[in-house]
Amino acid sequence: MSTAEPITPRAVGAGHARVDGPLKVTGHALYAVEHGSDEGVTDPLTAWVVGAPVARGRVVRVDAAEALAHAGVVAVLDHETAPRLTETGDAELAILQDDRVHFRGQVVALVLAETSEAAREGARLVRVHVAEEAHVADLDEGVDAGEAYAPEQANAGHETDWADGDLEAARGAASVVVDQTYATPHEHNNPMEPHAAAAHWDGERLTLWDSTQGVHPVAGTLAPLLGLDQERVRVRAPYVGGGFGSKGLPHPPEVAAALAALSQPGRWVRLAITRQQVFSLTGYRTQTRSRVRLSAEPDGRLLAVEHDALSQTSRAKEFVEQTATAARMMYAAPARRTTHRVVPLDVAVPSWMRAPGEMPGMFAHEVAMDELAVACGVDPVDLRVRNEPDRDPETGKPWNDRRLVECLQRGAERFGWAGRPAEPRATVDGDWLVGTGVAAATYPTLWNPDNAARIESRAGGRYAVGIGAVDIGTGARTVLRQVAADALGVDVEAVDLALGDTSLPMATVAGGSAGTASWGTAIVQAAQQFRADHGPDPAPGLHTVSTTEGYPDTEGHALHSFGAVFAEVRVDRWTGEPRCTRLHGTYSVGRVVNPVLARSQLHGGLVMGLSAALHEDGVRDPRFGHTVTQDLATYHVAAHADVPPDLSAEWLEESDLLATPFGGRGVGEIGIVGTAAAIANAAWHATGVRVRDLPATPATFVGGVRG
Ligand code: MOS
Repeated sequence: MSTAEPITPRAVGAGHARVDGPLKVTGHALYAVEHGSDEGVTDPLTAWVVGAPVARGRVVRVDAAEALAHAGVVAVLDHETAPRLTETGDAELAILQDDRVHFRGQVVALVLAETSEAAREGARLVRVHVAEEAHVADLDEGVDAGEAYAPEQANAGHETDWADGDLEAARGAASVVVDQTYATPHEHNNPMEPHAAAAHWDGERLTLWDSTQGVHPVAGTLAPLLGLDQERVRVRAPYVGGGFGSKGLPHPPEVAAALAALSQPGRWVRLAITRQQVFSLTGYRTQTRSRVRLSAEPDGRLLAVEHDALSQTSRAKEFVEQTATAARMMYAAPARRTTHRVVPLDVAVPSWMRAPGEMPGMFAHEVAMDELAVACGVDPVDLRVRNEPDRDPETGKPWNDRRLVECLQRGAERFGWAGRPAEPRATVDGDWLVGTGVAAATYPTLWNPDNAARIESRAGGRYAVGIGAVDIGTGARTVLRQVAADALGVDVEAVDLALGDTSLPMATVAGGSAGTASWGTAIVQAAQQFRADHGPDPAPGLHTVSTTEGYPDTEGHALHSFGAVFAEVRVDRWTGEPRCTRLHGTYSVGRVVNPVLARSQLHGGLVMGLSAALHEDGVRDPRFGHTVTQDLATYHVAAHADVPPDLSAEWLEESDLLATPFGGRGVGEIGIVGTAAAIANAAWHATGVRVRDLPATPATFVGGVRG
């Protein structure tokens, strides 16, 4: 059938409370390793990961004698005894298949035991003998060795290098130039629920209760790896304690749980990695270095934008943070040049973390814009307005509905920007130097095809809607019900929604801020097909399954969301301690399906940006190749006391029917974009100290503010 038609919003736009809220707060919602108990499983095994003790080398021998002698330990799997995988091309996922050690912490053995305590103690007792080889785990060392290379493409299929316009002419005409290097550190997703799975192999079928952002993608990856037809792999994830990208792709914990189950037919096996293991087995945002060169007219109008991004990847498997992509489309300029280079290291495999690319890239770009505003003596809000492009500079297409200027102006009004002193260090409040800053945000409107939904009529005018999507805590279970209700023209109470199970129709990952758009469009299409098939008053038991076809008008338009973030920062003039005391974002994200849940997403993104600005810092010890700050004490994630009480997010009233039939775009990622820059810019305004290296800590400021 044709693609979905726009719907009339009734439930969409209303602030329905989370449908699973009561289950969650009363502890009745079951997470991955809690499953099995509800199916009468009384004797699950626990699997525990043993990590490689060195960054590079070969496993000579795994001595499991002591572990096996420990009471309760049932088995120890290593690269010689673990079940064989059919596909081993993905070095991150092909665990326990050969003796190669690619990074410290890599899975080199699995201990299976009758209790969690015995499994953990057994893992401690496993002796892994390795032949260590020389490794490189430091970006500069890799650069100095000439290892930086141009990848074939960056994450999400972006071109490695992209340029347009006459750069030499633009540079030559410039009277103001900002040319600086900006750095972001290794950042690690830390969802409340670590990566975990309960797995069961009955000799025919593998069942996995997983903590994932996509049950179908996990089954689709695991099945060929294990040499099974996909119908023989069932993955379920009814409740997930956060992901932020770290559960967007299958990682070693899922493979480990599957191998453990295959080795013990008929028994449930539970595997939950430790917080420490989250830092090496689930991906992370690599450190980035961005050289940004802005060439401008005296009034701040850009003539050229250049962004050269450097990051690292693992030698085992390439991942390239698409740091420079936002510079291709953000502002008008006659010429631009963007590149990505990457250095392979003997380290854990990096992956997705909320707004891959845009987050570190817009930190660099938006601090550079602040520096340009200062250099030109132009207000930072005005500078951005002055550089507004009327078409997408990257594709030349018209925008779907670019409203960055309105976000900046409304946000400025809401925040109280007017009258801000241009000079830094102009406001002192007791021991605190006080400043304000702004940055723009953007995120592409992504959408995944090939989602499907099932609609079934039930007695009493009710409908059952099924889609194999996952609610990772964002509220998908609630908003999809709202979308379904409007698509069917019934009250939300008349809709029963099932998700989180590969026995339900195909759904793509909860990622790229594309979940609600992609799944919601599939539901609208299925509902409209159902009405076409069965009319407005169907008998119970009729059903329709429909797969989405291309909805968003990406041929005719460049689809993006935008926002403006405003921050107030105070820095203690004696200790240099920075505190973010006010934080506000105004966004243009299409129609907001549920204001309660969207605000929660945007607040979460703002807080995660604050955390990146002032706290998160994954410190690697290059001598050993691992992250030494591998717990929540030494890798500090913003906690309640770090978050300003004056935190707010708002959005423009709008509906984007080019993006989805309900007018909404995504809200998951844009909140983190630009936030660290707004805070860094506010810190400069407070102190006169320019922040180009995250996180900004007391050490950043103390030399510049004392006295
Ligand atoms: Mo998000 S990093 O796209 O899961």
